[in-house]
Amino acid sequence: MDTYLETQRLALRRFTADDADLLIELDSDPAVMRYLTGGHPTPPETVRERHLPNILAGYEKWGGDLGVFAAHEKDGGAFVGWFILRPEPEGPPDEVELGYRLRQAAWGKGYATEGSRALLGKAFTELGVRRVWAETMSVNHGSRNIMAKLHMTLADTIPTPPDMERAEGSEHGGVRYEITKEQWEQRALIQRLGPAHCPRPSHAPPAFRPPSQPACPAASR
Ligand SMILES: CC(C)(COP(=O)(O)OP(=O)(O)OC[C@H]1O[C@@H](n2cnc3c(N)ncnc32)[C@H](O)[C@@H]1OP(=O)(O)O)[C@@H](O)C(=O)NCCC(=O)NCCS
Repeated sequence: MDTYLETQRLALRRFTADDADLLIELDSDPAVMRYLTGGHPTPPETVRERHLPNILAGYEKWGGDLGVFAAHEKDGGAFVGWFILRPEPEGPPDEVELGYRLRQAAWGKGYATEGSRALLGKAFTELGVRRVWAETMSVNHGSRNIMAKLHMTLADTIPTPPDMERAEGSEHGGVRYEITKEQWEQRALIQRLGPAHCPRPSHAPPAFRPPSQPACPAASR
């Protein structure tokens, strides 16, 4: 396997021209497509003629470092779904989108958080990325929970993209979350060394922070 990244339980690899059936099967589950198309499957010919060729072209464009990556369980090899880590087609290469779409059988095991966390680490430590952003429908609480667990912060609300108007809750629009390299490094430090390394308001010296008040509440999730 052409491994791109490993986590404790997942192996991420680049897709190949033989993977259309995996993508077609993933997009054929109405539950998976609920907040994307309102449950409608992606037509197989769209996967074969547009989506998969675009994914493969992305590896050429970004030297295999960025793009869409298939995720498999390390134990047994089952296909779990995919993760995205890539810039906008015409956007700056150091600002990348994070995304995920997993098979229903893989939900609720922490896989999306685990894969995304590892991708953030790779983006900021190996790939020269400066900012990672992620977008989802406002009502997609599963997806928003992952962004919050990654310590991404809500940066903006966004209009529903025209191709997602059939999605459930599309009338509520979408949300954009972001994390910068500096924020990620700060979180990594807190994780390693404890909450004493939380950013503090300059007017509040450490000695005067009430002990009962968590110094850095988001870091505990
Ligand atoms: C959204 C999705 C990726 C979540 O994957 P997952 O592997 O189940 O996510 P995790 O297990 O890492 O869960 C992350 C957190 O979100 C919570 N969560 C997951 N699904 C949830 C839901 N439907 N509602 C509320 N919270 C949810 C989990 O409980 C977990 O929080 P916790 O660890 O504090 O309990 C998966 O459901 C999916 O692929 N959905 C279809 C495609 C999609 O909507 N992609 C996102 C579009 S932007």
